[in-house]
Amino acid sequence: MEEIRLQKAIANSGVTSRRKAEQLIVDGRVAVNGVIVFELGSKVSSTDEIEVDGVPIATEQKVHILYYKPTGEISTVEDDRNRGAVTDVFRQMDVRLYPVGRLDYDTSGILIMTNDGEFTQYMTHPKYEMQKTYRVKIDGILKRDQQKEMRNGITLEDGKTSPAGVKVIRDKKDRQMILELTIHEGRNRQVRRMFEHFGLKVIKLTRIRYDFLTLDGLAEGEYRFLKPYEVKKLIANAKDE
Ligand code: URA
Repeated sequence: MEEIRLQKAIANSGVTSRRKAEQLIVDGRVAVNGVIVFELGSKVSSTDEIEVDGVPIATEQKVHILYYKPTGEISTVEDDRNRGAVTDVFRQMDVRLYPVGRLDYDTSGILIMTNDGEFTQYMTHPKYEMQKTYRVKIDGILKRDQQKEMRNGITLEDGKTSPAGVKVIRDKKDRQMILELTIHEGRNRQVRRMFEHFGLKVIKLTRIRYDFLTLDGLAEGEYRFLKPYEVKKLIANAKDE
């Protein structure tokens, strides 16, 4: 059975943030199976009964949402420049959702929103290699030998990229090109940096596929709840590596 830190279990239940949960523990307001716990590192599993101020925490329903993020929204929870955040879209829901991984402010496409920490681990830990496909419009042409290099892996400042899938969708129109790039890594600004490596600027970037999930049926800014079988399949595919 999965064990997680006590402060995380409290945060997952939606009672408060992880940082505030730590304070509750330090203040002696948290009990596990009837015993007050002061240890920040202690681990709990789903069979442990956790109480805050003598009140059992509710185990929050897990929510998984496929959101078609438009450009012009940041996917971190807070922004120091006061720009719109994806979390604002889901503020009216009575669960605290956060994005699984990130998309840049200028990137649109599939962003999964959830309150499920275990699911997020499966989706984002590099060892599970979830495949993501990006439709990329570039200002210029990625030549055949460069496409081959990209397929094999190229060296960026944070190391060599894993082999990528590169498919040309439209070539040479107005000296611009549209490609589909499939990668399983999730480094910061990775797709943009992979093209910058060849001196090419990305002018439009959309994540069109996340493992087997697509944007079918959604317009920009719309979302839908993932079905239980879809969540199960994503986790199974992650475990498959
Ligand atoms: N790669 C990028 O460069 N940006 C994104 O938003 C996602 C992948």
